[in-house]
Amino acid sequence: MQHILAQRLETLRNAGLFRQLRTIRHYTGSHAEVDGEPLVLFSSNDYLGYATHPTLLAAARAASCSATSATASPLVNGFWEEHHLLVRELCNWKGVEDAMLFPAGYQGNVALMSALLHSPHDQVFSDALNHASIIDGCRLGRGTVHVYRHNDIEHLESLLVAHVGNGLRTIVTDAVYSMDGDVAPLVALLELAKRHNALLVVDEAHSTGVLGARGQGVTEIFGSHPDHLLTFGTFGKALGSMGAYATGTQLQIDYLRNMARGYIFSTAFPPGIAHVNRTAVQMLAKGEQVDALKHNIRALAEGLTRAGWDFSQQKTAIFPIVVGEAETAVDLSLGLRQAGFFVPAIRYPTVARGTARLRIALNANHTPEAIERLIVSLIREYNNTGLPKKGDV
Ligand SMILES: Cc1ncc(COP(=O)(O)O)c(C=O)c1O
Repeated sequence: MQHILAQRLETLRNAGLFRQLRTIRHYTGSHAEVDGEPLVLFSSNDYLGYATHPTLLAAARAASCSATSATASPLVNGFWEEHHLLVRELCNWKGVEDAMLFPAGYQGNVALMSALLHSPHDQVFSDALNHASIIDGCRLGRGTVHVYRHNDIEHLESLLVAHVGNGLRTIVTDAVYSMDGDVAPLVALLELAKRHNALLVVDEAHSTGVLGARGQGVTEIFGSHPDHLLTFGTFGKALGSMGAYATGTQLQIDYLRNMARGYIFSTAFPPGIAHVNRTAVQMLAKGEQVDALKHNIRALAEGLTRAGWDFSQQKTAIFPIVVGEAETAVDLSLGLRQAGFFVPAIRYPTVARGTARLRIALNANHTPEAIERLIVSLIREYNNTGLPKKGDV
């Protein structure tokens, strides 16, 4: 048994794909010690800087609950008053009839997708670059999965036409793709879903707090929450906490509460976390920090575009610098680390082979100086890789 594990790890090592943990201390919202080394982080999903925001920290301290655990799964006795208040807050913010909560986004997507593929007649149409949790949830379902080419509406429509059937049909997409930072053609997807009598599920993990003038994501783009839309979001990214939620009609949420095994058979997050999450939703409903993030997105996009990368259409906080080989990405990441920045190298299996990259994640707390220094260091390190040179800023 041992030698099989060792062999598999050796294969990863030989391909430059072995990963290890790093220990973080003293996170300030833009800086941290990474394995004892003080660095500017361009890696966290804390897009609005809520994880260290005084209001959210105060909510965490004041979490007015008498227990550290929800003590059961939601349908037994794990749905506390704090969870109820959070659900009401989400419903007001999203303009929906009901919402449900999950301990993590990964788990939520697995629960959701497997429940939407409950019958062998059910079908899911999934974008090729959807997050691993959507893919894994689809693998667990009993129905059929059709993968359409990334953001290719014509390909999706041809699959919808070719696979009619009488089960449930669901189109699923990330709103913002986690490793590419591009945006799904949301309006066209909604229109297709309507026309082909399908449910549209949108994962807002990276659009919440980022897309829309007020950071409301898909809801703001659509101007409402139509009946054949189900949105899914996480508290662990722009909302600065942990857990996830799905929002939709009463019928949709009743169905999922009764069918989603990852919801039914798992302990709810603690009531104190529900209180923190509700505070984060209230902050976002007021648009706190959204303008600061948008300002930083513009600054980094303009700087990188001037240097020769094309980020002229950039709307999100995720900037991929694709270099191809895993080793090049790792070297680039190490070079930036020596210059004082933590920007992770992203490799297979997180992205396709031959598309290894740096994933720069920007947040509202980055200063103009930090952004400028990152651009200068990135150009210098990139120009040492042997890839076509990038220009000066
Ligand atoms: C698009 C997307 N969905 C879901 C998740 C999972 O969320 P969580 O980190 O809360 O498990 C992630 C996390 O990286 C993600 O990028």
